[in-house]
Amino acid sequence: MEQSTPRSKSKYRQVIQELEVRVSQGVYQAGDRLPSIRQLSEQLAVSKNTVIRAYQELEAAQKIEAHPRSGYRVAERTQTSSGTPPEPDFVDLLSISRKVLQHTLNSNLLPMGSAHPNTHFPAITSLYAEIGRQSRYQTQQPSHYLLPPGDEQLRKQLVSVNQWLGISAFPHEILITHGAQQGISMALQALTRPGDTVVIDSPCYFGNLLLLESLGLKAVEIPASPLTGMDLNQLALALKQWPVAAILINPSYNNPTGSVMPAAARQQLLTLTQDIPIIEDDVFGDLGYGDRPPSIYSLDDSQRVIYCNSLSKTLDSRLRIGWLLAGRYQSQIEKRLLADNMGSLNLMQSAVAEFLKTGKYRAHLRKVQRYYQRNQRQFCQALTAALDSYPWLLGRYHLYQPDGGFLCWLSLPEHTDSDQLYQQARAAGISLLPGSMFCTQKQYRHCLRLSYAAFEDTPDWQQGIAALAAIIASHLQPSSSESTGFS
Ligand SMILES: Cc1ncc(COP(=O)(O)O)c(C=O)c1O
Repeated sequence: MEQSTPRSKSKYRQVIQELEVRVSQGVYQAGDRLPSIRQLSEQLAVSKNTVIRAYQELEAAQKIEAHPRSGYRVAERTQTSSGTPPEPDFVDLLSISRKVLQHTLNSNLLPMGSAHPNTHFPAITSLYAEIGRQSRYQTQQPSHYLLPPGDEQLRKQLVSVNQWLGISAFPHEILITHGAQQGISMALQALTRPGDTVVIDSPCYFGNLLLLESLGLKAVEIPASPLTGMDLNQLALALKQWPVAAILINPSYNNPTGSVMPAAARQQLLTLTQDIPIIEDDVFGDLGYGDRPPSIYSLDDSQRVIYCNSLSKTLDSRLRIGWLLAGRYQSQIEKRLLADNMGSLNLMQSAVAEFLKTGKYRAHLRKVQRYYQRNQRQFCQALTAALDSYPWLLGRYHLYQPDGGFLCWLSLPEHTDSDQLYQQARAAGISLLPGSMFCTQKQYRHCLRLSYAAFEDTPDWQQGIAALAAIIASHLQPSSSESTGFS
């Protein structure tokens, strides 16, 4: 698999984005021939290798097809005019996910399944020192509730955090939540009633699927590209067909695929959805390795986007500090928050506010962005080399290497049973998450979500990666009568 520098990588992504926009605008229709590699490299002033890489990625995502002697064509299934929109359905995942999640917490396993950040950084030590100081101070204070919208100092500090994300917000617009999970839950409760239909990305972070299940909501799963996110043609079809109460989307460094929705598509999403409320889940938004498109919240001028974020991925998920910018739903959600918990986490909110005042968070962010980028490169290289050492795996998988966050998505041939791979990996001392956790109908049973947050270039990790490749290879080993061709 081609290895690329971050610079060439962002260029090929730009080519992909340009092509996706042209397809969504109908410049190229289903079955149309795309420009040759030479033509496109001249049109976009990029190298031929960049175009080849972009075409390979789009082909792997089944958006385009290579035709012998006639080059690349737009795949039939990406067009608005064809295909039936996915149907709304209830989610049934709570029973299996509890078991799987408990296993990812087992500290004896190599943690490829965990979506928690690496906490071995000096800033985290300072943060916990601050929590210690605050806890001593709090013992001298009378007991009280810290009512919504939350600690004033913390909300003031979060103004700068939002600014770095390209979002301008006043302290009074910020609602502190118990992690992004509570923020998304509050947003869903404010916008829906049991039985309503919510549009989500497919695949979708299982925590969001669990919320829909527990609130009795139906999901319409809109297929999403592991590169550029939700397919807006499919979304348009679904909106024509079903009454949708809200759209829940995770557009930047998506969990599980790492996709990033391009800026033009974000704008198009706002146009397409008219007045339907959008919940933007941006928990990985600050972990990009380079520039990222503007948040959907910052592009909207109708106050119907609810922005949800937290410090769970950038600092520590144990803090349970999240926040909402709720636009026109702000006062409604603030009342719900009050009823939900009468305020929460006094100690943590004041400690995090003091920590943010030190200015160490910004430097920490830069450090972890570089750290995860390096991990991504080394982990993906090691896994690719291990998989490619089995001749029958060559060209039969696609490892999506994201431009941010610390999760990557491995897509294997359609008949792969990742639930079985998950069991075998666990027995071999490796945690990972099977694709079936990220959908309602096992559509991604052939995929795995892998984390490189804790990756180290050590014998333990090298052996773990080799063991995982061996498990996959043995699962997909052709019997002597079978062909090894990629289907
Ligand atoms: C996409 C996504 N949204 C929301 C959450 C919940 O985050 P928090 O820990 O802040 O509740 C997670 C956690 O993994 C996530 O990956």
